[in-house]
Parts: sequence; structure tokens; C-alpha cells
Amino acid sequence: MEKIVSLCKRRGFIFPSSQIYGGLSSIWDYGPLGVELKRNIKNLWWKDLVHQRSDIEGLDAAVLMHPKVWEASGHLKKFADELVDCKKCKKRFRAEDIVSHQSPVTSHQSKNRKPRCPECGGELTKPRQFNLMFKTSQGPFLRPETAQGIFVNFRNICQTLHLKLPFGIAQIGKAFRNEITTGNFTFRSREFEQMEIEYFVQPAEAPKWYEYWVNERFNWYIKLGIKKENLRVREHSKEELAHYARQCSDIEYNFSFFTKGARRPSVGQGSTSGRGWKELEGIANRQDFDLIQHQRFSGEDLNYEGVLPYIIEPSGGVDRTLLALLVDAYYEEEVKGRKRVVLRLNKDLAPIKIAVLPLLRNRPEIVKIAKRIRDELLPHFITKYDDTASIGKLYRRQDEIGTPYCITVDVQSLDDKKVTVRERDTMRQERIAMSKLREYMGERLK
Ligand code: GAP
Repeated sequence: MEKIVSLCKRRGFIFPSSQIYGGLSSIWDYGPLGVELKRNIKNLWWKDLVHQRSDIEGLDAAVLMHPKVWEASGHLKKFADELVDCKKCKKRFRAEDIVSHQSPVTSHQSKNRKPRCPECGGELTKPRQFNLMFKTSQGPFLRPETAQGIFVNFRNICQTLHLKLPFGIAQIGKAFRNEITTGNFTFRSREFEQMEIEYFVQPAEAPKWYEYWVNERFNWYIKLGIKKENLRVREHSKEELAHYARQCSDIEYNFSFFTKGARRPSVGQGSTSGRGWKELEGIANRQDFDLIQHQRFSGEDLNYEGVLPYIIEPSGGVDRTLLALLVDAYYEEEVKGRKRVVLRLNKDLAPIKIAVLPLLRNRPEIVKIAKRIRDELLPHFITKYDDTASIGKLYRRQDEIGTPYCITVDVQSLDDKKVTVRERDTMRQERIAMSKLREYMGERLK
């Protein structure tokens, strides 16, 4: 965990928000590399789910919505965590985490014994309900899920596009939750991004489409390059289901590093799911709950093709996917007696595709060629030039941020018009004619 956080900060993936003022709890800024990785995840999701399918359309709804939306959706009453405070050290915990992390009371212990603070052993307050929505001075709330923007636009989209059931509406956008028990880096943030599809189906077909989406979404994470053994599907028990759901399965990633040697309870959705396994995405059968509610509160008829459709909802988090990708791709290995850190990211997701490096930065002819190569490749691939350290350090820096290819211009390049291309994972080096570079890279980077 510390290594990932340190890498993120050192190399410009993720910074604490407003850091010069001491940061802001569980709010994060994505730096130059983080924003590229994030965009690549979102673009791939959009391409696979909107552009390359004929049954899903996109939407970008506002973050602020009519206050009635949150009454209708049930968030006003039910979107709450049960929290307890420690009377001694004043730390706050989710009641659910305290219960699931303390060993059961044994027969020789008092029947009246209550759970104690996991930090200091102090006495805990009674659980209290704490609504997770952020209030604004405008009266309404910041949306805690993007889904509601889709439901309230359902009729607009049906009327403009005349879609046939089953069809989906997809949205990527920010969501806000006033999470109290935070920690675990970006895993549980107060401002985060969701990638959601609401897939509208004939009610009788809901179970079939639910199964379909659980499989589709599981396979998508494998396509991203996450190792299959670090992913699993976990079906929710009845007690765990959200107020709108009949069935729900989480796609979980094994963040085993979160819990290794941890003193604190592992907080968060999926905390009941076992050590290290944490939710990346939930796929829920929301039935007709949302359309019924919005129909009732708005007075508008939301029937379509003679029914109130059921909704299957694959709902994933951009930030959690990004974190899982970093963890999964992070390797430390020994090369010639020295430690090499390498991010073996899927090439499609890597923030920078090519780094152009001059072997000698004090030789203007070499620097000139390297910059020319950078300029020639720039319109086609995300390419960076770097001459701020020795070649060994420059390679290591690129390995650590997951750049698939480094191109090095050396003295010999001046004569033979060739450069060295080094591949990140194998560290294999090849001499390639400068005139062939674009074609060579094009074959390797789509
Ligand atoms: N519309 C359904 C919904 O919002 P959810 O399980 O509460 O369901 C969906 O959230 C996804 O959003 C989660 O699987 C997770 O990836 C992401 N998510 C939820 N809360 C988050 C938080 N506090 N920080 C980061 N990501 C979060």
C-alpha cells in the first residue's frame, strides 16, 4: 500500500487534494499520469459499451438534480451508514465493521460485553444513522450515484431514439458521498467517478440479462489486463442487498495488501466479503423500483412498450479500477543486482506510450534527433522526451510508470540513422531505422 501511494505521488499519478493546505480527507487529485490512465480506462469502457454496441446509448446528466429525485430514489431515507464513535479516542467506525472484526464473545465472557474500540479499546457510543449525501446550499444534494440522471431522462431518450427493449443508457460521471470511515487511499473517496449502465429489459427477461451482465463485466476486467486469479464474483446475501435490488453480485479484486498486518478494521463495501477482497463493480437487478418511484413522485407515465421495464445495472468505479490496475501491474524484480520497479500495464492503458531519450544530453546533434523523433511520433502516440538524468535512471523512471517503449538515440545513430528501441517487460533492445519507427510502433501500439 505504502509503495503504491508513494509511487503515485512521486511520479504524478495521484496527489492528496489541496495538499499545500494540508490535504482534504479522502479527496484526491489526479496528476499528469493519473489523468491519462483514468481517461484510458473511461475511453475503453465507452468504446466497448457504447460505441461498439448497437443497444446502448450515452448520456451526460448534471450533478445537481431536483430534490424530489432523492426522495423518490429512497436515498433521503435509506442511504445511510450506521456509525459508532469511540468515547475515549473519538475515532468513528461503521458499526458493521466493528461487528465483523471482533471475535465472538466466548462463554466465560460476560453476555453483556459490548464491542470495544478497535483502536484503543475504549467504550463505543450506540450506533447512529448517518446519511451519506452531501448537502449543497442550493437545497438539493450532490448526486451519490450517476444512475438517477439516467432514470429521470429515461422518457426523453425513449422518445427521441425510439429504442426497442432491451436497451441500455450509459453514463460516466462524478458522484459524491460523505464517507466517514475512509482510508485505503482512493478506494473509498468522498468525490469519485462512476461508470454506470442502466439496461432496460422486459421484466420476465431480467434474470437472463442479470447473468449476462455479470459475465460481461467480469470478462471486461480481464480484458483490461487484471489477472483472473485476483478477480472474483460474489453474490450478495439477502441482508446485504440495497433497498432497490432483488439480486446483486460484486466483481471483487483481491487487494490483499490492504489488510496485511493492518490494525484497523478493513472498512468498506465488501468488508463482509473476506480478507482483501473488495468491490470494483456491482451488478444489480433493480427491478422496476426506480421507474415506479419516479412515476409516483413526478406523476409522469414511464411505461414503455406496454410495460414498466426492469433494470439491470452494472455500476463500476473509475478510481477503484485504476487502483486495482496499479496494484495488479506493480512488480519489483532484481536486474543485474539492482531493484527494478515495473508497472506491467496493458499497453492500451499506459499513460505514456513512448519515451524518447538521448544517450548524451550534452551532444546537441543527438538531442536534436531525439526531439525530432518525438515531434514525428507525437501526432500518433503519446510520446515524451526526457534528458534529465542518466540513461539508466531514465529507463527506470519509464519502467516505473509503465511506458511500454523507450527509444534511445546514441552516437552511432548519427552514422547509421538507427535508434535502440527497448521493450518494458522483456527489456529486449532492437536497432530500428529511424525512417521505420512510426510503422514499427504502429504495429505494436494500436
Ligand atoms: N448505482 C449503484 C451504485 O451506486 P454502489 O455499489 O454504491 O452502487 C457503485 O457504487 C461503484 O461505485 C462501486 O462498485 C465502486 O466502484 C464505486 N464507489 C462507490 N462508492 C465509492 C467511494 N466512496 N469511493 C470510490 N468509489 C466508490
